[in-house]
Amino acid sequence: MSVQISPSILSADFARLAEEAKAVEGADWLHVDVMDNHFVPNLTLGLPVVESLRKATDTPLDCHLMIENPDRWAPAYVEAGASSVTFHAEAATAPVRIAREIRAKGARASMALRPATPIEPYEDLLPELDMLLIMTIEPGFGGQPFLDIMLPKIRRTRALIDKHGLDLWLQVDGGVSAETIERCAEAGADNFVAGTAVYGADVPAAAVRALREQAAAVHRH
Ligand code: DX5
Ligand code: ZN
Repeated sequence: MSVQISPSILSADFARLAEEAKAVEGADWLHVDVMDNHFVPNLTLGLPVVESLRKATDTPLDCHLMIENPDRWAPAYVEAGASSVTFHAEAATAPVRIAREIRAKGARASMALRPATPIEPYEDLLPELDMLLIMTIEPGFGGQPFLDIMLPKIRRTRALIDKHGLDLWLQVDGGVSAETIERCAEAGADNFVAGTAVYGADVPAAAVRALREQAAAVHRH
Protein backbone atom coordinates (compact mmCIF):
# COMPACT_ATOMS: atom_id res chain seq x y z
CA MET A 1 0.00 0.00 0.00
CA SER A 2 1.64 3.27 -1.02
CA VAL A 3 0.69 6.52 0.68
CA GLN A 4 -0.82 9.35 -1.34
CA ILE A 5 -1.45 12.90 -0.11
CA SER A 6 -4.14 15.10 -1.64
CA PRO A 7 -4.03 18.67 -0.30
CA SER A 8 -7.42 20.37 -0.38
CA ILE A 9 -7.48 23.80 -1.97
CA LEU A 10 -10.62 24.56 0.03
CA SER A 11 -8.25 25.85 2.71
CA ALA A 12 -6.20 27.91 0.24
CA ASP A 13 -6.59 31.56 -0.73
CA PHE A 14 -9.15 31.50 -3.57
CA ALA A 15 -7.85 34.78 -4.98
CA ARG A 16 -4.46 33.11 -5.59
CA LEU A 17 -5.43 29.60 -6.68
CA ALA A 18 -2.64 29.16 -9.24
CA GLU A 19 0.06 30.03 -6.70
CA GLU A 20 -1.61 27.94 -4.03
CA ALA A 21 -1.72 24.95 -6.40
CA LYS A 22 2.00 25.39 -7.11
CA ALA A 23 2.74 25.57 -3.39
CA VAL A 24 1.91 21.87 -3.04
CA GLU A 25 3.65 20.50 -6.12
CA GLY A 26 5.15 17.24 -4.92
CA ALA A 27 1.77 16.11 -3.61
CA ASP A 28 0.18 13.20 -5.48
CA TRP A 29 -3.07 15.02 -6.13
CA LEU A 30 -4.72 18.39 -5.74
CA HIS A 31 -8.08 17.88 -4.01
CA VAL A 32 -10.76 20.19 -5.41
CA ASP A 33 -13.97 20.46 -3.39
CA VAL A 34 -17.00 21.27 -5.55
CA MET A 35 -20.01 22.34 -3.44
CA ASP A 36 -23.39 23.45 -4.74
CA ASN A 37 -25.06 24.84 -1.59
CA HIS A 38 -27.69 22.08 -1.86
CA PHE A 39 -25.96 18.79 -1.10
CA VAL A 40 -23.92 20.69 1.51
CA PRO A 41 -24.57 24.12 3.07
CA ASN A 42 -21.66 25.80 1.28
CA LEU A 43 -20.80 27.02 -2.21
CA THR A 44 -17.32 26.82 -3.72
CA LEU A 45 -16.42 26.43 -7.39
CA GLY A 46 -17.39 24.59 -10.54
CA LEU A 47 -16.29 23.59 -14.03
CA PRO A 48 -14.62 26.85 -15.20
CA VAL A 49 -12.36 26.95 -12.14
CA VAL A 50 -11.41 23.30 -12.60
CA GLU A 51 -10.52 24.03 -16.24
CA SER A 52 -8.29 26.90 -15.15
CA LEU A 53 -6.65 24.91 -12.35
CA ARG A 54 -5.81 22.18 -14.84
CA LYS A 55 -3.73 24.70 -16.78
CA ALA A 56 -2.16 26.15 -13.62
CA THR A 57 -0.56 22.96 -12.25
CA ASP A 58 0.92 19.63 -13.34
CA THR A 59 -0.49 17.94 -10.23
CA PRO A 60 -3.46 15.75 -11.18
CA LEU A 61 -6.83 17.02 -9.98
CA ASP A 62 -8.88 14.95 -7.53
CA CYS A 63 -12.38 16.47 -7.80
CA HIS A 64 -14.71 15.79 -4.87
CA LEU A 65 -18.25 16.57 -5.96
CA MET A 66 -20.46 17.55 -3.03
CA ILE A 67 -23.35 18.29 -5.33
CA GLU A 68 -26.81 17.04 -6.12
CA ASN A 69 -27.38 15.20 -9.39
CA PRO A 70 -23.82 13.93 -9.95
CA ASP A 71 -25.40 11.71 -12.64
CA ARG A 72 -25.73 14.87 -14.72
CA TRP A 73 -22.41 16.56 -13.85
CA ALA A 74 -19.67 14.03 -13.06
CA PRO A 75 -18.57 13.28 -16.67
CA ALA A 76 -18.14 17.00 -17.37
CA TYR A 77 -15.51 17.20 -14.61
CA VAL A 78 -13.39 14.66 -16.51
CA GLU A 79 -13.69 16.82 -19.60
CA ALA A 80 -12.71 19.85 -17.52
CA GLY A 81 -9.45 18.11 -16.58
CA ALA A 82 -10.01 15.99 -13.47
CA SER A 83 -7.96 12.79 -13.29
CA SER A 84 -10.15 11.43 -10.50
CA VAL A 85 -13.81 12.27 -9.90
CA THR A 86 -15.58 11.43 -6.64
CA PHE A 87 -19.37 11.53 -6.43
CA HIS A 88 -21.43 11.00 -3.27
CA ALA A 89 -23.38 7.76 -2.89
CA GLU A 90 -26.21 9.69 -1.20
CA ALA A 91 -26.67 11.99 -4.20
CA ALA A 92 -26.27 9.44 -6.98
CA THR A 93 -29.25 7.86 -8.72
CA ALA A 94 -27.22 5.33 -10.71
CA PRO A 95 -23.75 4.99 -9.16
CA VAL A 96 -22.65 2.16 -11.46
CA ARG A 97 -23.54 4.19 -14.53
CA ILE A 98 -21.72 7.27 -13.20
CA ALA A 99 -18.59 5.27 -12.37
CA ARG A 100 -18.58 3.68 -15.84
CA GLU A 101 -19.00 7.05 -17.52
CA ILE A 102 -16.10 8.53 -15.54
CA ARG A 103 -13.87 5.58 -16.45
CA ALA A 104 -14.96 5.65 -20.09
CA LYS A 105 -13.85 9.27 -20.30
CA GLY A 106 -10.44 8.27 -18.95
CA ALA A 107 -10.46 9.26 -15.27
CA ARG A 108 -10.48 7.31 -12.03
CA ALA A 109 -13.95 6.75 -10.60
CA SER A 110 -14.52 7.27 -6.90
CA MET A 111 -17.51 7.22 -4.56
CA ALA A 112 -17.81 9.05 -1.23
CA LEU A 113 -19.79 8.16 1.88
CA ARG A 114 -21.04 10.71 4.41
CA PRO A 115 -20.45 9.73 8.05
CA ALA A 116 -23.93 8.17 8.47
CA THR A 117 -23.75 6.12 5.25
CA PRO A 118 -22.58 2.52 5.75
CA ILE A 119 -20.22 0.77 3.35
CA GLU A 120 -21.93 -2.62 3.46
CA PRO A 121 -24.76 -1.91 0.94
CA TYR A 122 -22.10 -0.99 -1.62
CA GLU A 123 -19.93 -4.11 -1.32
CA ASP A 124 -20.96 -5.47 -4.72
CA LEU A 125 -20.20 -2.12 -6.40
CA LEU A 126 -16.58 -1.92 -5.28
CA PRO A 127 -15.13 -3.46 -8.49
CA GLU A 128 -16.67 -0.54 -10.41
CA LEU A 129 -14.59 1.96 -8.42
CA ASP A 130 -10.96 3.06 -8.32
CA MET A 131 -11.27 4.79 -4.97
CA LEU A 132 -13.66 4.90 -2.03
CA LEU A 133 -13.78 8.11 0.05
CA ILE A 134 -14.81 7.87 3.68
CA MET A 135 -15.72 11.28 5.09
CA THR A 136 -14.28 11.78 8.54
CA ILE A 137 -16.32 14.97 9.05
CA GLU A 138 -19.76 16.06 7.87
CA PRO A 139 -18.93 17.51 4.44
CA GLY A 140 -19.24 21.23 3.79
CA PHE A 141 -16.41 23.01 5.56
CA GLY A 142 -12.72 22.65 6.26
CA GLY A 143 -11.26 22.96 9.73
CA GLN A 144 -13.69 20.67 11.54
CA PRO A 145 -12.47 18.14 14.11
CA PHE A 146 -11.75 14.59 12.93
CA LEU A 147 -14.50 12.08 13.76
CA ASP A 148 -12.88 9.13 15.51
CA ILE A 149 -16.19 7.28 15.28
CA MET A 150 -15.41 6.73 11.58
CA LEU A 151 -12.36 4.53 12.29
CA PRO A 152 -14.40 1.28 12.46
CA LYS A 153 -15.90 2.04 9.03
CA ILE A 154 -12.42 2.59 7.61
CA ARG A 155 -11.37 -0.79 9.03
CA ARG A 156 -14.45 -2.57 7.67
CA THR A 157 -13.91 -1.01 4.25
CA ARG A 158 -10.28 -2.09 4.16
CA ALA A 159 -11.37 -5.62 5.09
CA LEU A 160 -13.88 -5.68 2.20
CA ILE A 161 -11.25 -4.41 -0.26
CA ASP A 162 -8.85 -7.13 0.87
CA LYS A 163 -11.56 -9.82 0.87
CA HIS A 164 -12.28 -9.12 -2.80
CA GLY A 165 -8.59 -8.63 -3.68
CA LEU A 166 -9.32 -5.23 -5.20
CA ASP A 167 -6.85 -2.54 -6.21
CA LEU A 168 -9.04 0.18 -4.74
CA TRP A 169 -7.64 3.22 -2.97
CA LEU A 170 -9.18 4.15 0.38
CA GLN A 171 -9.30 7.91 0.89
CA VAL A 172 -10.11 9.79 4.08
CA ASP A 173 -11.21 13.44 4.09
CA GLY A 174 -11.84 15.73 7.04
CA GLY A 175 -9.73 16.67 10.02
CA VAL A 176 -6.71 14.75 8.74
CA SER A 177 -3.60 16.20 10.39
CA ALA A 178 -0.36 15.27 12.14
CA GLU A 179 -2.52 14.33 15.14
CA THR A 180 -4.94 12.04 13.28
CA ILE A 181 -3.25 10.68 10.14
CA GLU A 182 -1.61 7.75 11.93
CA ARG A 183 -4.99 6.50 13.19
CA CYS A 184 -6.34 6.64 9.64
CA ALA A 185 -3.32 4.81 8.22
CA GLU A 186 -3.52 2.18 10.93
CA ALA A 187 -7.20 1.60 10.09
CA GLY A 188 -6.30 1.00 6.44
CA ALA A 189 -6.51 4.33 4.60
CA ASP A 190 -3.87 4.96 1.92
CA ASN A 191 -5.00 8.25 0.37
CA PHE A 192 -5.22 11.27 2.64
CA VAL A 193 -6.93 14.60 1.99
CA ALA A 194 -5.68 17.46 4.14
CA GLY A 195 -6.81 21.06 3.90
CA THR A 196 -6.08 22.99 7.07
CA ALA A 197 -3.11 20.77 7.96
CA VAL A 198 -1.41 21.68 4.66
CA TYR A 199 -2.50 25.23 3.83
CA GLY A 200 -2.50 26.32 7.46
CA ALA A 201 1.19 25.36 7.69
CA ASP A 202 4.01 27.86 7.15
CA VAL A 203 5.38 25.77 4.29
CA PRO A 204 2.58 23.72 2.68
CA ALA A 205 4.97 21.46 0.71
CA ALA A 206 6.82 20.57 3.91
CA ALA A 207 3.52 19.70 5.59
CA VAL A 208 2.74 17.34 2.68
CA ARG A 209 6.11 15.61 3.11
CA ALA A 210 5.66 15.28 6.88
CA LEU A 211 2.15 13.82 6.58
CA ARG A 212 3.35 11.36 3.95
CA GLU A 213 6.21 10.22 6.17
CA GLN A 214 3.92 9.75 9.20
CA ALA A 215 1.47 7.59 7.24
CA ALA A 216 4.22 5.62 5.49
CA ALA A 217 5.83 4.81 8.85
CA VAL A 218 2.55 3.29 10.03
CA HIS A 219 2.20 1.18 6.88
CA ARG A 220 5.80 -0.10 7.26
CA HIS A 221 5.00 -1.57 10.68
C1 DX5 B 1 -15.01 19.33 3.32
C2 DX5 B 1 -14.06 18.92 2.25
C3 DX5 B 1 -12.68 18.66 2.68
C4 DX5 B 1 -12.01 19.82 3.40
C5 DX5 B 1 -11.17 19.19 4.46
O1 DX5 B 1 -16.29 18.91 3.05
O2 DX5 B 1 -14.50 17.73 1.60
O3 DX5 B 1 -11.86 18.25 1.57
O4 DX5 B 1 -11.20 20.62 2.60
O5 DX5 B 1 -10.57 20.18 5.21
P1 DX5 B 1 -9.74 19.86 6.54
O6 DX5 B 1 -8.58 19.03 6.12
O7 DX5 B 1 -9.39 21.20 7.06
O8 DX5 B 1 -10.67 19.10 7.45
ZN1 ZN C 1 -13.12 16.99 0.04
